[in-house]
Amino acid sequence: MLYQQRQDELRAHPKTWLVTGVAGFIGSNLLETLLKLDQQVIGLDNFSTGFQHNLDEVQILVGNGRWQRFRFIQGDIRELATCHQVCRDVDYVLHQAALGSVPRSIEDPITTNENNISGFLNMLVAARDAKVARMVYAASSSTYGDHPDLPKVEDTIGNPLSPYAVTKLVDELYARVFARTYAFAAIGLRYFNIFGRRQDPDGAYAAVIPKWFAGLLSGDKVYINGDGETSRDFCYIDNCVQANIMAATADDEEAADQVYNVAYGERTSLNDLYALIQERVREYFPPAAEAKPVYRDFRAGDVRHSLADIGKARQLIGYMPQYSIKAGLDEAASWYIDRFR
Ligand SMILES: NC(=O)c1ccc[n+]([C@@H]2O[C@H](COP(=O)([O-])OP(=O)(O)OC[C@H]3O[C@@H](n4cnc5c(N)ncnc54)[C@H](O)[C@@H]3O)[C@@H](O)[C@H]2O)c1
Repeated sequence: MLYQQRQDELRAHPKTWLVTGVAGFIGSNLLETLLKLDQQVIGLDNFSTGFQHNLDEVQILVGNGRWQRFRFIQGDIRELATCHQVCRDVDYVLHQAALGSVPRSIEDPITTNENNISGFLNMLVAARDAKVARMVYAASSSTYGDHPDLPKVEDTIGNPLSPYAVTKLVDELYARVFARTYAFAAIGLRYFNIFGRRQDPDGAYAAVIPKWFAGLLSGDKVYINGDGETSRDFCYIDNCVQANIMAATADDEEAADQVYNVAYGERTSLNDLYALIQERVREYFPPAAEAKPVYRDFRAGDVRHSLADIGKARQLIGYMPQYSIKAGLDEAASWYIDRFR
């Protein structure tokens, strides 16, 4: 299969990668896979929402030999000089650093804007100046906003529903303008609810899957915003890692200056998700079988349903997600259960 072939090529001819947001959930997973493929990796993070313990876990998983191929720089994408420094001699940039979370952006739109737009623009300028072979950046399904069509197709978007969604849309606009103005063609990956190991379960802005694993494993209340029929296209982290590697290494010029949905292509309601997580947790922690979710108000800025058409990514970058939501939840469950042991 194409992904396997691409990994074999990278192993045979290692490249230098920059991962921004490397101490975060997605960034640390990119780091783990790239080091296992014997790549050289430079990582940038300011630890605003990322953790040293994510990096420590990757070090243990890849072993000290491979860890020598990693250079970490603690710094901020809001500093242009830092962005220039980390882009030097890099082949591929995987830009993940940003402030996630819709509610966070509603509470503090200015900080979200500074990180997600000014920081993003700095990275575009630095990657362009360094003449990297490709920059791939984390875009978001929130860009579909209030458009009702399902499944979501890349060219048809609505109005943004939160400051966070505005920032991710502006990033796409900047990327497109850089392709036209400077012939620097980046690739945007519109992630749809990515989940898996090292996704933070703590804090007010935690995502639903880690929050529910943590709640059920510790006997705490689990809340569902709305009636539970809100649905999402949940996508396991290894699918997302695959999309990044396939996008960065796609040599077809038609594949560049594009945005792609990164999802599994299946819709799960929150009620069904709760049942799937409960099923996995109760084998380890039997009281979870009795736990009932608490329903509360819908959350501002949330879209009701989300489902991706992944045909474009399949066709142009050869993306073939390997993990269904159930297979991904099996993997995630064993990681969260280990953590709570
Ligand atoms: N997780 C998802 O489901 C999802 C969905 C859509 C888009 N995204 C996007 O994917 C990217 C990664 O998300 P994640 O879930 O791994 O979140 P995360 O919070 O775990 O990771 C983000 C990382 O970026 C770092 N960071 C933030 N601002 C920075 C700055 N100014 N300078 C340097 N580092 C900075 C944080 O410390 C953190 O380690 C983000 O751009 C996010 O908007 C994620």
